[in-house]
Amino acid sequence: HQDKFAILDKKNQEALLGGGQVRIEAQHKKGKLTARERIQLLLDEGSFEEIGKFVMHRSRDFGLDKEHYLGDGVVTGYGTVNGRLIYVYAQDFTVFGGALSETHAEKICKIMDLAMKNGAPVIGLNDSGGARIQEGVISLAGYAEIFYRNTRASGVIPQISAIMGPCAGGAVYSPAITDFILMVENTSYMFVTGPNVVKTVTHENVTSEELGGASTHSTKSGVTHFACANEVECLNFVKKLLSYVPQNCEEDAPSIAYVPSGSELRPELDSIIPLNPNQPYDIREVVEKVIDEDSFFEVHKNFAENIVVGFARIGGRSIGVIGNQPAVLAGVLDINASTKAARFVRFCDSFNIPLLIFEDVPGFLPGTDQEWNGIITNGAKLLYAFSEATVPRITVITRKAYGGAYDVMNSKHIGADMNYAWPTAEIAVMGAKGAAEIIFKREIAEAETPEAKLQEKVDQYTDKFANPYRAAFRGYIDEVIYPRETRQKLIRAFKMLENKVDSLPRKKHGNIPL
Ligand code: COA
Repeated sequence: HQDKFAILDKKNQEALLGGGQVRIEAQHKKGKLTARERIQLLLDEGSFEEIGKFVMHRSRDFGLDKEHYLGDGVVTGYGTVNGRLIYVYAQDFTVFGGALSETHAEKICKIMDLAMKNGAPVIGLNDSGGARIQEGVISLAGYAEIFYRNTRASGVIPQISAIMGPCAGGAVYSPAITDFILMVENTSYMFVTGPNVVKTVTHENVTSEELGGASTHSTKSGVTHFACANEVECLNFVKKLLSYVPQNCEEDAPSIAYVPSGSELRPELDSIIPLNPNQPYDIREVVEKVIDEDSFFEVHKNFAENIVVGFARIGGRSIGVIGNQPAVLAGVLDINASTKAARFVRFCDSFNIPLLIFEDVPGFLPGTDQEWNGIITNGAKLLYAFSEATVPRITVITRKAYGGAYDVMNSKHIGADMNYAWPTAEIAVMGAKGAAEIIFKREIAEAETPEAKLQEKVDQYTDKFANPYRAAFRGYIDEVIYPRETRQKLIRAFKMLENKVDSLPRKKHGNIPL
């Protein structure tokens, strides 16, 4: 059968070349890797099994009947990352600019269907000029088939989108529905309408990079969770992300064997809170000292920096960490911080990843900007996300827990399992000065020395409420702990909660304020 094998050899060789050597070189010149090179970097060596290598489009219009490439602009299949099964598709820009045709979409849908049936993550490597223009509405139908599957798969299997080139128009909505988006600095962009249309409609002059590059989406819009320096870093981040998440919603979060390497006490934490309650500190320092060494993987690092979210391990177990950040805007909750944290909470809860919350929050950000843009609805998202989460949830109040924000930040009342406070905690409706000015307004105004009276009342309020004990008397706080003991307490508490069973009332689905 040598002649028949030779035909297969030839086709295999042809498929590997995608749109041809010239276009591969053009891709490299732009500082981009090809679809196959990316898959090779992402998967364990030799583990990739391709599906649909010889698929070709069925178009007849605009000369396409004379232009065919094996694979039709997307490489799809399965393989392993650190030994665990994943499904992958990588759009091949060398074939019609990676544009999505009917058959290209069918290939993606095929592996998504397999991923759903077999319970494993789907990784999309996007690099595409959008809808295959020659195919018109058939291509749009292909997109919709993918969006529909993205939505059905949401919360069932993890879905990750790496944007490694153009991603414009309708194409953006598949990544938008997936759990995480990663973008590469300078070589990728995402927008619904490009700079030319923007210029016509709004008369704004803006480059692709400014409009929808990695920096823009990682800082201004929050569309991307990671902005990566280059493609290698991007693919490494995908692998790292996978290491914290289970294969599907039926599995527990991964854990690695943990061998304590000495005392779990962290005496440095005792002096981490500044003596002046208005002085900032970096919550990441607290996080780093409590979790397993070097295990913090921050998500959305440069967006809404007044809240910090990310994955970590504690005692070897994968957890999601959320912390108000006193170093930025005093750690207030605003619209972006609320939606950022809410989405992270919902991801963790979907995939059985326990939550650890560090709280130091002076309240919600006041102002017309916030009110007019809906801090009420958006703040409610975080409240709803915590209230709905059934994974083990633990809160540590390090300092301020004021007002409605106290309730929102995983308080006992909305279902937290364990609530700890440090002795530096201040759990109250508001700061002592603000409180005294309101409730003793007349007394202060009528006093001979209003300044002294105010101070007296501030001290009175501080004594009563600027501490964790009122809440502890009520059992709203389970234990007031020394900061140095935090890690030890958390390792034990998460272990204690590892078999937690909780479920929501029967319903079709909830109606989170969107
Ligand atoms: N449909 C069909 N073919 C497409 C395509 C699309 N949507 N987008 C790009 N291509 C083809 C180009 O014709 C070109 O073919 P060739 O190699 O035979 O010359 C190839 O892909 C590469 O495109 P090119 O324009 O040379 O690359 P670039 O890096 O300079 O620009 C884009 C990339 C994405 C900015 C540009 O191709 C573009 O604007 N595409 C159209 C985007 C769009 O409007 N999509 C439809 C709406 S969703």
